[in-house]
Amino acid sequence: MKIKVLFVCLGNICRSPSGEAVFRKLVSDHGLDHEIEVDSAGTIDYHEGNPADARMQEHAVLRGYNLTSISRPVKPKRDGEYFDYIIAMDKQNKKDLLRLLPKEHHQKIFMMNDFSRTNKGESVPDPYYGGSEGFELVLDMLEESCRGLLDAVRKQLS
Ligand code: 4NP
Repeated sequence: MKIKVLFVCLGNICRSPSGEAVFRKLVSDHGLDHEIEVDSAGTIDYHEGNPADARMQEHAVLRGYNLTSISRPVKPKRDGEYFDYIIAMDKQNKKDLLRLLPKEHHQKIFMMNDFSRTNKGESVPDPYYGGSEGFELVLDMLEESCRGLLDAVRKQLS
């Protein structure tokens, strides 16, 4: 059985598509594509059907990540049942997931930085209304915390 990981932010056009791409590359680099499935979603449907934000794509591609996912909203019942890890980018995303998902799936909800060594408990800040340093910070945080996430997931595989 594959371990299934869902990254969640507000719009699913900046942070969670980047989390998806960073983690997918890490999984692939470790030869674990057949063991781990990765997806992303947003807590709102405002950007449904749109590709990732152009600024986020530009920053990601400079680090070797292609953001290919198309925005979709969280499907509370289906995603709650299907995924093993549901990973919120910030505290509000986590609050929203706790409100949206059936109680029996709440133990699957984490914060991205729960898996960080250096930023535990912190949100991955929303870069949407800021400048380029915000997009770089998102990628810095994701690259660091996704390594911790992979360690946690791999323990379950063995
Ligand atoms: P994301 O960023 O949640 O990381 O995808 C945002 C995208 C869109 C908006 C806010 C944050 N928005 O207000 O439309």
